[in-house]
Amino acid sequence: MTKQKDVPSQSAVNRRSFLKRTSMLAAGSAIVTNFPFVQTSHAAPDDVIKIGLIGCGGRGTGAVGNALASAGNVTIAAVADVFESQAKAAAEKFKVAPEHCFSGFDAYQKVCDLADVNYVILATPPGFRPIHFEAAVKAGKNIFCEKPVAVDAPGIRRFIAAGELAREKKLCVVAGTQRRHQASYLETIKRIHAGAIGEILCLRAYWNQGAIWHRGDHGETEIEKQIRNWYHYSWLCGDHIVEQHLHNIDVCNWIMQGHPIRAYGQGGRQALGSKSGHIYDHFAVEYEYANGVRMFSQCRQIDGTDGNVSEAVVGTKGVCNKLSDGIILGESPFKFDGTRIDPQIVEHTDLIAAVRGAAPYVNDATSVAHSTMTCIMGRESAYTGQAVTWDEAMGWQTSLAPEKMEWGSAPTREVPIPGKHQIS
Ligand SMILES: NC(=O)c1ccc[n+]([C@@H]2O[C@H](COP(=O)([O-])OP(=O)(O)OC[C@H]3O[C@@H](n4cnc5c(N)ncnc54)[C@H](O)[C@@H]3O)[C@@H](O)[C@H]2O)c1
Repeated sequence: MTKQKDVPSQSAVNRRSFLKRTSMLAAGSAIVTNFPFVQTSHAAPDDVIKIGLIGCGGRGTGAVGNALASAGNVTIAAVADVFESQAKAAAEKFKVAPEHCFSGFDAYQKVCDLADVNYVILATPPGFRPIHFEAAVKAGKNIFCEKPVAVDAPGIRRFIAAGELAREKKLCVVAGTQRRHQASYLETIKRIHAGAIGEILCLRAYWNQGAIWHRGDHGETEIEKQIRNWYHYSWLCGDHIVEQHLHNIDVCNWIMQGHPIRAYGQGGRQALGSKSGHIYDHFAVEYEYANGVRMFSQCRQIDGTDGNVSEAVVGTKGVCNKLSDGIILGESPFKFDGTRIDPQIVEHTDLIAAVRGAAPYVNDATSVAHSTMTCIMGRESAYTGQAVTWDEAMGWQTSLAPEKMEWGSAPTREVPIPGKHQIS
């Protein structure tokens, strides 16, 4: 998968810096500012953060590196992956004891069951996220949860319910929507919320890039083949409007401080051809927020096309043409000139600060679930060719995942044809 290209790299962030960052964090993440200053039972200020990694691929191992670089007293205690080779490679890399290295479909539960783990990183394909998130919450862990957080409406509802349980149990949750921890975004959006561009008229969200990876159609069973190529199957990845474009759509929801109420989109599969799987390679969706403001979204994964990964917002008194640049033009001009720190490190700095009580309680579950659902709504509008509303989408009942998770068969679906396809 293409990594985010607009993230500046940097060195480790030390513990002092997260205290300085508390006010910025409050602006970007779903923090309950009036939450009583309660310590979770799982990490007092000087306690060691003991990571359990679930999903030992590129992002999971990357996130462990980010967490280790983000604060002091952070260790890794356990790893889990559906494939033994992946789990073993991660255990070797991070020097995890063999008895804390788990594989198989139930490996996530074994990590959650360990008293030695107080901070779980969820980084499998998103089709598994609601189940893994719920298990981690039930087991009383603080959670760094990669995006997206589900691929269908039942998964969204399950994730939101588990997020509420996390709130009751005072477990901290930060999602891998790293723009919410990126200083240029935080400073710019703070000004937009304070009226720097006047009333918002419209927004634009793009993730246009080249073709995505395919690992080859090998595997003893259909489900193994699909999990290895999870990006190409909607029950595993949600399609790329969910899997990738979520980042940009989440920024628009953050600016609008809510989710759209309606989506009207289209898309198709032009260049993927006979490659296995059934996802689209392009989408364009018009979203409408409750106050009538429109957000225009595009995502494309086709080689030889112009790339553009950005968000923009136009107001009555100004404009921001690229949020990551942190430049506002208009009556109240602004140019971000602060330090650019890798937000994939900062998101752990922020989460660990909250876990240790050095920052207010944080729980991103609802906001990231709403952004994920925004993407799902756009996908279904494109697949069916129908306009869809938030209220109907939140009530959809179909689960995309196979009923039983075991090595064997897996769902095979046709590429959705608008006008014929029924809501997934
Ligand atoms: N925030 C970001 O910028 C960013 C960047 C990359 C990826 N991601 C997200 O991270 C997640 C993982 O992406 P990746 O690039 O690391 O993919 P990957 O294919 O490199 O890794 C996924 C890992 O999960 C394992 N896995 C699959 N099913 C599992 C299961 N049921 N239980 C345990 N392990 C399982 C796979 O074997 C693999 O090792 C995705 O949700 C993706 O969207 C986020």
